[in-house]
Amino acid sequence: MSRINIFDTTLRDGEQSPGVNLNQLEKLEIARQLERFGVTRMEAGFPASSKGDFLAVKAIADTIKDTSVTGLARTVKSDVDAAWDALKGAAEPSLHLFLATSPIHMTHKLKKTPEQVIETAVEMVSYARRKFPIVQWSAEDASRSDWSFLAQIIEKVIDAGATVINLPDTVGYTTPAEYGALFRYVKENVPNIDGISLSCHCHNDLGMAVANSIAAVENGATQVEGTINGIGERAGNAALEEVAVALKIRSDVYPYYTDLKLNEIKRTSDLVAKLTGMYVQANKAVIGRNAFAHESGIHQDGVLKHAETYEIITPEMVGVQSNTLFMGKHSGRHAFKDKVEAMGYQLTDEKLKAAFEAFKKLTDYKKEVTDDDLFTILTEIQTEHASIGKYKLNMFQVQYGSANIPTATVSLTTPDGREVETACTGQGSVEALYNTLDALVSENLKLVDYQINSVGGGKDALAESHVQIEVDGETVNGRGSAQDVLEASANAFLNAVNRYIVQQGTQRTADGMK
Ligand code: KIV
Ligand code: ZN
Repeated sequence: MSRINIFDTTLRDGEQSPGVNLNQLEKLEIARQLERFGVTRMEAGFPASSKGDFLAVKAIADTIKDTSVTGLARTVKSDVDAAWDALKGAAEPSLHLFLATSPIHMTHKLKKTPEQVIETAVEMVSYARRKFPIVQWSAEDASRSDWSFLAQIIEKVIDAGATVINLPDTVGYTTPAEYGALFRYVKENVPNIDGISLSCHCHNDLGMAVANSIAAVENGATQVEGTINGIGERAGNAALEEVAVALKIRSDVYPYYTDLKLNEIKRTSDLVAKLTGMYVQANKAVIGRNAFAHESGIHQDGVLKHAETYEIITPEMVGVQSNTLFMGKHSGRHAFKDKVEAMGYQLTDEKLKAAFEAFKKLTDYKKEVTDDDLFTILTEIQTEHASIGKYKLNMFQVQYGSANIPTATVSLTTPDGREVETACTGQGSVEALYNTLDALVSENLKLVDYQINSVGGGKDALAESHVQIEVDGETVNGRGSAQDVLEASANAFLNAVNRYIVQQGTQRTADGMK
């Protein structure tokens, strides 16, 4: 069995998913979970792209000590320097440099000849190696590049000091046989490839990202790149949990293993889904809600007689437990703290106090507080920035009935401490509420997306809302939960506006990323 390194890019390529926009605390929480999951390397962001990304990469590099942290850079000195400044505190600083090698990218995007591309790549790899012990070089759009050109440039960048070579299928165009053959070709035609780690990076435009990644592994790749839940640019990246479980379940045909703790899959997937607002579909492989549900009578009967008749993956293997009952009204602070720690959260005393209060409030309305409820509350509190200088909801009231005009009254405290109140109407209860909130906040915003979900089942389930708003041309996400759907909706709206306030001043400057 040979070991396959897992390179997670949820915080970089995954964060490039349309509509995803994580703040620093959310990125840190995901990074901690990726460390617990056991990924070999995590790509924390693109430090030169914005001040926010720089600070998030730096915070992750300074915090995560059991996993190698990397950052993305274009082949320009200022990107490499910014990445070094962000990553130098990491336990094992590593850099991910990329430059396109396909004719279409070189001609139309880079406007460089192949010779100029080689020269730039070599110059920047050797510059980066003076700072970083690990330098990964990616031939962007490798799957649409000329293979003999690839062999030539790879040999040169290895001579210049690259320690990992990545061959991305940037536009999700390749097929398993073709991608596997590319890896074989590179292994056989690059004279100095021995001792260099070969990496695959697949996008899912044709739904083949996982299959392509495994084909690369079968043909010499020793590193697989991907994201949790397969999120990412356009149709996303290879879903790491699917790659890992496929290698495990079919170890009879795949003689490879990873260091991932498969029973952390569920928590990792849930956390990423919650924080990005990109929930996985019920029938998603490995981790979808229906992955272990057997609907037909024949299947249920078979599973009851012998689980393996219809179940190739056990729920326990990927960390799916039945929604365990947490505690109720009478649970004390001590038991609560133990539970919080057992669930993998490290809260400050102040946040623990806030979480306990939120839990107690919930027990007033909900008899049975489940792990899912608690996970929602804890994630919200752990990733919330301090509430100074932000909008605060004091009270709201919505009048709704099929025979009258929906009307909402809201009172808020504004970031400068004033109490404001007004009422507005709408076509429905949520619209009335949102029109009122919109009238009260001074930001000029537009609602782009609105989602409401229940956390677990039952009539008394907690409601969780995700919104996306556009403020002054910037897209910001917001999340909020409450027992009531309208309160959860109001919380999500204000959370988005508050995040905008926190984020102000940070602006993406880099372009051309994939
Ligand atoms: O898909 C891609 O080519 C990328 C590169 C930046 C590696 O994400
Ligand atoms: Zn990519």
